Amino acid sequence: MKTYIIGNWKMNFTVGESSLYLHKLLSKVRAYRDLETVVAPSLVALQTLSLQTDRRKIKLACQNFFYKDFGSYTGEVSISQLRSLVDYAIVGHSERRYIFGETDKDIKKKVAAALRGGVTPILCIGETDSERSFGETVDVIRDQLLGGLSDVPKEDISKVLIAYEPVWAISGHGQPARLASPLDVADVLKLVRNILREAFGSKISEETPLLFGGSVRSLNAESYLSLRDCNGLLIGGASLIAPEFTDIIEIAKRVKNDRVI
Ligand code: 13P
Repeated sequence: MKTYIIGNWKMNFTVGESSLYLHKLLSKVRAYRDLETVVAPSLVALQTLSLQTDRRKIKLACQNFFYKDFGSYTGEVSISQLRSLVDYAIVGHSERRYIFGETDKDIKKKVAAALRGGVTPILCIGETDSERSFGETVDVIRDQLLGGLSDVPKEDISKVLIAYEPVWAISGHGQPARLASPLDVADVLKLVRNILREAFGSKISEETPLLFGGSVRSLNAESYLSLRDCNGLLIGGASLIAPEFTDIIEIAKRVKNDRVI
């Protein structure tokens, strides 16, 4: 199984800044066979960055899209329009769910649309602080996971990357972020594997890449990457700082190589 280090730049950097930053990253990042490095810049920078990047080193993701292919949807962009620019698409990020009101119904259509268009979806799931404190984590994770995958044919399930991002651990979500303990993360990733196993069988469950995201830094990246069920990281703030992001890539390379499978 590959390891995935994915930087979500969110609504940061102009097109010029994005291009300069990618240039810097490309000069520092090496191409690895089993490690995928992906960045998700702003939509307006995708065209420029797709011409600039070396896909063996850094691939691109979009942060959002609409699930219809073409038509009268003012302000929206489809996977058909994005597929020549990106290899991955973030779907169902908590900022889209809670700030822009995306529902599980929208999200399942987006996951299926991305797959149909040949783009790998990164399905984000995660409970809020209050859901966790009411003991609802298991139900929320099950609903978001199976809901998001419900339009995906069984043979395509393991093509979807699942990113567990507890909302309370994401920087800038409104309140100060709390760091998720590796034990908490291990529990939820194991839960995700179990839900996938019950629904689709053990082969698919083991082959589906599971990522963690939420205040990941170079200082704590190893503690998450060492978890048995963690196949990568989805990184916000630290992906905007070149030395942090490139350190995390090197940590991933070392931890995953060292690991006895
Ligand atoms: P931070 O790493 O800034 O907490 O953001 C995580 C995230 O939302 C990535 O999608």
